[in-house]
Amino acid sequence: MDIEQLRNQVARIETEVQSLLKGVRSLDDVRRVRSRFLGKKGALGKMMGTIRDYTPDLRGQVGQALNTANKAVTALFDEAARRISSSEAAAEATKASAFDPTLPGVRPPLGNLHPVTIVQWKIEHVFQRLGFTVEAGPDMESDYYNFEALNIPADHPARDMQDTFWLTNGLLLRTHTSPVQVRSMEKFGPPIRCIVPGRCFRYETTDASHENTFHQCEGLMIDRNISIANLIAVMKLLLREVFEREVKIRLRPGYFPFVEPGFELDMSCLICDGRGCATCKKSGWLEILPCGMVHPNVLRHGGIDPHEYTGFAFGLGLTRLAMMKYGIHDIRVMNSGDLRALVPPCRLTGPTVWDSEMGRQAC
Ligand code: DAH
Repeated sequence: MDIEQLRNQVARIETEVQSLLKGVRSLDDVRRVRSRFLGKKGALGKMMGTIRDYTPDLRGQVGQALNTANKAVTALFDEAARRISSSEAAAEATKASAFDPTLPGVRPPLGNLHPVTIVQWKIEHVFQRLGFTVEAGPDMESDYYNFEALNIPADHPARDMQDTFWLTNGLLLRTHTSPVQVRSMEKFGPPIRCIVPGRCFRYETTDASHENTFHQCEGLMIDRNISIANLIAVMKLLLREVFEREVKIRLRPGYFPFVEPGFELDMSCLICDGRGCATCKKSGWLEILPCGMVHPNVLRHGGIDPHEYTGFAFGLGLTRLAMMKYGIHDIRVMNSGDLRALVPPCRLTGPTVWDSEMGRQAC
């Protein structure tokens, strides 16, 4: 090529380098483009190799033109490399300043016991201090322990009080924890002091206050000279411990075939302090604890002489108690698996911000 063509070629190379360098984003890119133009195998490098093909009088001009181009292109690459290094450094600097070690960290969600478990453990603790043992019975129960031994024979209308899941193996899902009364009598004999927390099942249509699976805690105390006064004392202590304050109670007659006399134990409403509100249906009282003196027939079924021993029993609705303690207004939340039911429970007396989806009071 003649000297004019060479000059044009060199100018084209410079323009191409300029436009290529506009698109590079990293030092590696710069290095890659640079090797295409400079160095022995680069476009300019190769042209340098052709100097000796020119006649001696032209070699000086060709060499000068190529040297100038080489310097200019090298300067372009150096400039691009400087630009990228400084913007990379700036990016590093912003990244470093985005981390503020003085800010509080992100709190990981903590696990929490289920409200029923919390209340169950609390009750176990209270009763263990009074010398009660904690017993358990099978979920799959026989007709005998669930009904018959509790003074509810096959033709007794009281069977209709509890809608029962009957199983194909002739057993049933226990409708209450009361079957463990006679089981404990058989196992230990008198005197007995025990509680039985556990799961119960009823063939119910579920709604905000009904579930087919729920928890109760049975209590049983049998000895010589046990009276209603003992029952009242123990129940008052239990409620005081669970609600962490003095609770007023009252007894009303209630019918359960396995106790005589039987009672409904009410406690003064904690939300309105007995003045009357929506939760207690304006009565100032909450029905909380069915109980009574163990029926002589039940003692006999347990092999205990009713002339020598008496006792009291109660059937605490554990699920209900947990709902009251923690202001949970929909029983379906308890078995839903919704983890929001496990956030550290709020107090019954807290401000009542209603969360309709969860059916619970916000703390
Ligand atoms: N088992 C009864 C029920 O589930 C509750 C009950 C009532 C238990 C009176 C008792 C009692 O021990 O004395 O409806």
